[in-house]
Amino acid sequence: MTKLDIIRKTKSLFMKWNLHRIAEPFSDAVLNAVHLSKLSKWRKQHPVMGYNDWYQSSWDYTRRFKLYEEISKAEHLNTVAVDYFEFGVCGGFSFKWWLEQNRNDASRFYGFDTFEGLPESFGSFEKGSMAVPLESLHIDDTRASFYKGLFQDSLIPFLNYYKSDRKKLVHLDADLFSSTLFSLSQLYRFLKDGDILLFDEFAVPKHEFMAFKIFTESFYVNYEVIGAANNYLFLAVKIKK
Ligand SMILES: C[S@@+](CC[C@H](N)C(=O)[O-])C[C@H]1O[C@@H](n2cnc3c(N)ncnc32)[C@H](O)[C@@H]1O
Repeated sequence: MTKLDIIRKTKSLFMKWNLHRIAEPFSDAVLNAVHLSKLSKWRKQHPVMGYNDWYQSSWDYTRRFKLYEEISKAEHLNTVAVDYFEFGVCGGFSFKWWLEQNRNDASRFYGFDTFEGLPESFGSFEKGSMAVPLESLHIDDTRASFYKGLFQDSLIPFLNYYKSDRKKLVHLDADLFSSTLFSLSQLYRFLKDGDILLFDEFAVPKHEFMAFKIFTESFYVNYEVIGAANNYLFLAVKIKK
């Protein structure tokens, strides 16, 4: 028997013996540790070509607005016409920030959310948490439109009719691995050189980071990191084509 045969046989035996019964209780912790290590390596391999507040001894969620300001300044996002996509609108705090910041009449702002909360649990947040009714946002800017429902249901029909030459600013703030990977995969064919991706929970190893890593490695996406805040929790990358 060759070495390869032995490896194959051992793998089959592990499956035959239902390895998952022993391994599954530890798989989350192991996956987290593995991806935390990958995040640490990724950080070393990807210098930030712009604003970066690393290292902070405490976390402050409001630092994301400092990142937005810096990105906006560096990329002239207050004046250029953009297509702003937000995946995960919830109470609309980031959505409203960008809407108020960019005054170009030709800009369009697209918000996607169930508005009925998370479709899966996320850490200590249970499925259904973060539910904010769309009507409570009170956004009357005619440049903005909202797509209620799962991204998995609303995004493909939206993209079937989407055509635009404007610069894209894509804000991934859905927290979840599945939601982030789905959105990125669907938007892939529309991404152009210079488009910007913003992440809101990038430093969560098993979710936005893992989705971004799998996406960029599977679709061979080139990019540069143009900003980071709050120990990489908030991240901005620019697509390079
Ligand atoms: C962290 S909140 C967004 C916060 C918001 N950007 C802000 O600044 O206040 C995450 C949102 O993502 C939404 N979400 C996550 N996965 C989704 C999916 N697959 N489809 C639709 N909405 C989703 C949840 O409903 C939730 O409202």
